[in-house]
Parts: sequence; structure tokens; C-alpha cells
Amino acid sequence: MRKKIIAGNWKMNKTVAEAVALVEGLKIDLADCMDVEVVVCPPFTALKTVSDKLENTQIKLGSQNMSSEDDGAYTGEISHTMLKELFVKYVILGHSERREYYKETDFWVNKKVKKALEKNLRPIVCVGEKLEDREAGNTEKVVEEQVRGSLADITAAQFENVVVAYEPVWAIGTGKTATSEQAQEVHKFIRSIIADMVGQKAADGLRIQYGGSMKAANAKELLSQPDIDGGLIGGAALDARSFIDIVKAGM
Ligand code: PGA
Repeated sequence: MRKKIIAGNWKMNKTVAEAVALVEGLKIDLADCMDVEVVVCPPFTALKTVSDKLENTQIKLGSQNMSSEDDGAYTGEISHTMLKELFVKYVILGHSERREYYKETDFWVNKKVKKALEKNLRPIVCVGEKLEDREAGNTEKVVEEQVRGSLADITAAQFENVVVAYEPVWAIGTGKTATSEQAQEVHKFIRSIIADMVGQKAADGLRIQYGGSMKAANAKELLSQPDIDGGLIGGAALDARSFIDIVKAGM
């Protein structure tokens, strides 16, 4: 049985004061939530404050990125040590916005994934095709290349600490959601690639989240698919009520 995992990716939103208001709102309903694993990923500037607010709750903390290096002259970067000091547990890696705007390649995503696992942080590794890929019939080809590239050299044992997020780029922030059939098909395909890479047992244990305009209204149907084990939520994670309703859809 895979425990569902719902993560809020706040992206470049929320000042510290706004982050406090949101996390206080989430705690009312989710502080003791055990049925679903709940993760929030604020911007770096709010991590410390949110971390303090989450003390003694079941809600886990994630970051939206992490450097592949340990420390040193990397202006603007944040290291695993800095994140772990704030009790961060999850790191989103290879989000399509990082791939698109900051030219992160599978090679770099893979370096970060390896570093995260080596340092006991759990990567949420994002993959997903663009609209032109889907229209050209290349969805599986593109997703397979990202999965094999971003997760190269990860062992079956390490996969226990990995989460994959399937996020079709055309569905992110657009209001267009993949249908539950479209999403299920790709999730099943991703699991089959992982089985080929590290074996069926590790593949069966892997949690694969869906991301892309997931909201309370469509969450239940998506989350009831056999290979959809959670959600990575952008826009709908910025409001406490709507995020709570998505988590409840996963119970
Ligand atoms: P969205 O973003 O829910 O706003 O589509 C999802 C994501 O980018 O993780």
C-alpha cells in the first residue's frame, strides 16, 4: 500500500507574513493528518518561519530546489546543509519551470537527486511533456528520457526515498488538467520504466504524484486512479481551504 502524498508548491509566492497566515490556516485541519502525507514547499525566505510553525505537527517541509554542491562559491544557491538545518525533508527537483527558464537538464537534475539522497533528503523529481510533444505523439519518448536521465544510477533501495511527479507542462497553471485516463496512462508507463531500471518491487513501492491544475474539484477522480499516488499542487496550494480540500480528497 502506497501512502498518498500531497505537496504544495508555493513557487515564488508568499512573503513571510503571508506564509504564516497560510500555514496557520493549514494547521487547523491538517496538523494531525496521518492518512495522507502532507508537504508544504514555501520559498526559501519563508522556510525558517514555516519550519518553526510546523513543529509538533504531521505536516512536512519541502524546498523548491537545492544545489548539487556541498558549499562554496555558488552565488544564489542553497545547500543541503542549509535545508536540513531547517528540518526540510523533501526537495522538489527538475520542476518544468526550472528546466524551461533556468535550463536545468536531466544531467543536473540527476546530480541534485544523487546529492539529496546521499544527504537523506527526499527528492520529488518532476517530469512531463510539453504540448508540442504530446501533439507529435512523443509523450512516452520524452517522459522516458527524463525518467531515465534524472534518475540514472539510483538504486532500488534509494528509490524508497524518491517521489516522482508527473506534470504535463501544458497542464501547469493553465487550468487544463490531464483527464484521469491520460494521467493514469503515463503514471503506469513511468512505473514500468522504473521496473525496468531497478525491478518491480521498487517500482511498486514508488509514489508517483500528478501535477498540473489539480484542484478540489478534480482531485478525487485523479487520486482514485491505481497509479496516481498523490498530487503536486501549485495554484490551488496558495489558499488554505482549497489545499485542505485536495488533501481530504486523498483520504
Ligand atoms: P499548478 O502547478 O497546480 O498551478 O498547475 C503545479 C506545479 O507546477 O507543480
